[in-house]
Amino acid sequence: MEIKKICVIGAGIMGHGIAQLAATHGYDVNLVDVNEEILNKAKTAIEKNLERFFVAKNKITAEEANGILNRINLNTNRDEAVKDVQMVIEAIFEDMTLKQNLFSELDSICYKNVILASNTSSLSITDMASKSNNQERIVGIHFFNPAPVMKLIELIKGKNTSEEVLETSKKFSESLNKTVVTVNNAPGFVTTRLIYVLCNEAVKLKMEGIASTEDIDVACKLAFNFPMGPLELSDLVGNDIYLHIGEYLGEALGEKYNPSSLLKEMVDNNLLGRKSKKGFYNY
Ligand SMILES: NC(=O)c1ccc[n+]([C@@H]2O[C@H](COP(=O)([O-])OP(=O)(O)OC[C@H]3O[C@@H](n4cnc5c(N)ncnc54)[C@H](O)[C@@H]3O)[C@@H](O)[C@H]2O)c1
Repeated sequence: MEIKKICVIGAGIMGHGIAQLAATHGYDVNLVDVNEEILNKAKTAIEKNLERFFVAKNKITAEEANGILNRINLNTNRDEAVKDVQMVIEAIFEDMTLKQNLFSELDSICYKNVILASNTSSLSITDMASKSNNQERIVGIHFFNPAPVMKLIELIKGKNTSEEVLETSKKFSESLNKTVVTVNNAPGFVTTRLIYVLCNEAVKLKMEGIASTEDIDVACKLAFNFPMGPLELSDLVGNDIYLHIGEYLGEALGEKYNPSSLLKEMVDNNLLGRKSKKGFYNY
């Protein structure tokens, strides 16, 4: 099946980035969220990003930017917005029950050949599909932030995802000019599991007094050529997000993945990182 139009559900950080990316590559996009205020904010953010990173840098013309914006339709009515698309990508909150319910509802509303994709960064695609009747059409398409810029897409094959759905999703991802890695379903997949373990281990090194925050980050940057140290990264992503991922991975994969007690303490004290202006560093 050829994909021409998609629906993105959730117009937050990831959803608006995915909508911009897909529209830039010629797809029509229905962008859905719970209210118009969020949708208007998302459209303004896309407009600013196109101007700042593409038009001002002569990568596209102002007319092309307009064309991209015109391909994005805002809609608060989800059931209407999924009617005329070939693929739905959800980017709602990272919550298993919410996503399971969403997929089961979409499964009963969307035509049988519509692909249902999740942009989850850690949750099991197999579990997410478990309440749906047509589990073969549910797949993980994991974009990275910011979606229009980052080169990778992690494509996740749930236990029941069909080869056809995986192949079409891969072609779609490649048409966005991304490099695709395909992974079998597992909590945290490849990327989130690896980065979480690194960050959690860095927090443990700090907690055990092995090295200072700054020295742990400098060591990683210079020894491994990382653009950012793990504690800086945890502050950027949000220490609460890593705690949430760690709790999920600990439960799903075993206690060696449990988050360190320092990470829990920091979240309890609102030391969330950049978003609360305090974390491993002050902002
Ligand atoms: N932020 C990241 O760096 C990142 C990277 C990769 C993947 N992800 C994943 O992407 C997803 C979204 O993350 P985000 O950071 O964009 O979150 P966000 O909080 O910025 O946005 C979520 C949006 O979903 C909307 N929403 C919630 N429930 C909805 C529903 N039932 N119907 C319609 N809209 C609904 C909210 O109003 C909100 O605007 C999560 O699963 C997350 O794990 C995030």
